[in-house]
Amino acid sequence: MVRSKIAGIGMYVPQQVFTNQDLMKVMDTSDEWIQERTGIKERRYAKRTGETTTTMAVEAAAIAIERAGITAQDIDFIVFATLSPDYYFPGCGVLVQRAMKMKEIGALDIRNQCSGFVYALSVADQFIKTGMYKNILVIGSEKHSFGLDFSTRGRNVSVIFGDGAGAVVLQPTTKETQGILSTHLHSDGEAAEILAMYNPGTHANHWMQQEVATFNDGNLGDMFMSHAMIDNAQNFPNMDGPSVFKKAVVKFPEVIMEALAANQLTAADITMLIPHQANLRISQFVQQKLGLKDEQVHNNIQKYGNTTAASVPIALCEAWQQGKIKEGDLVCLAAFGSGFTWASALLRW
Ligand code: ACO
Repeated sequence: MVRSKIAGIGMYVPQQVFTNQDLMKVMDTSDEWIQERTGIKERRYAKRTGETTTTMAVEAAAIAIERAGITAQDIDFIVFATLSPDYYFPGCGVLVQRAMKMKEIGALDIRNQCSGFVYALSVADQFIKTGMYKNILVIGSEKHSFGLDFSTRGRNVSVIFGDGAGAVVLQPTTKETQGILSTHLHSDGEAAEILAMYNPGTHANHWMQQEVATFNDGNLGDMFMSHAMIDNAQNFPNMDGPSVFKKAVVKFPEVIMEALAANQLTAADITMLIPHQANLRISQFVQQKLGLKDEQVHNNIQKYGNTTAASVPIALCEAWQQGKIKEGDLVCLAAFGSGFTWASALLRW
């Protein structure tokens, strides 16, 4: 039986550290509020110029490729998860293909926000299992710092997010005791707007309960992104934090239990849970609900904030680098985020 294994893993975070105290200089917030509600002490921000979602991805990918013992020319497919692409289109996958001088391989971008990496891994897993590809580069990367409202108006969102990238190389294995055992993907679009960035977009207020922008009917070019949208701060992410929290603490445990049940395993069998780093309080709640010990869960949101699609591969890479994950260990990846979408992957390292 062919399964996919993680043959190499890499991560990259920008050098520039932004502490809660740094944020207090630009908005009305406090270290106490941020740490108490989210666990975050600091996050990394990419250089204003010279570092993009793609360049960070390339840094992480180069490490993953080297650790897999192959070269960039051996990669035969790219799956790239991000909500903060270099361009609205084309996606970042092709930019990685160009930057790393790869062959004319397929490149696919995934827009599933916080669960993007687990979705990307699941897509890549199917291609490996069918035998279509042998070396798939799966990336999660985000440059949030370019798209946040750093005034007090945007503080409930902007204090949470950070920049960074993580990448893995997936390869086939026939080893019984290794590889991805299962992935489970879910969505519920009922509350899509409560964690969303509305503009630029083509919705023209179609889905909104209330008017979110004043359009100039005479100017067709205004619809996608207008001065009014910018004046009303509608080009920034919007989040109803408490509603997201309530849903996350239900769906995280659910999708982890689903993965365990599908493989006749229990929470006690998990060597390492890598939860998407949404909020330390959410991770702690999930840990408690599943009865996991501290050494069974890896959190690093304290240092990096929420890096959305990059958070799972960064945390996985860091846990592995710290020697917390060894060959044959049972690792569970789980994520929940905007959409809502949520997902899990269970694998033997
Ligand atoms: N600093 C100081 N005060 C703030 C800040 C801030 N950065 N942000 C909001 N506040 C204020 C609010 O204005 C409000 O003031 P008021 O009571 O005078 O009106 C008060 O703090 C409480 O606001 P709430 O939004 O109710 O605060 P809550 O306790 O729910 O915490 C938080 C907010 C941290 C966003 C929380 O709801 C949460 O973690 N939700 C989950 C969402 C999440 O994890 N998002 C991550 C991205 S999505 C994902 O990855 C799943």
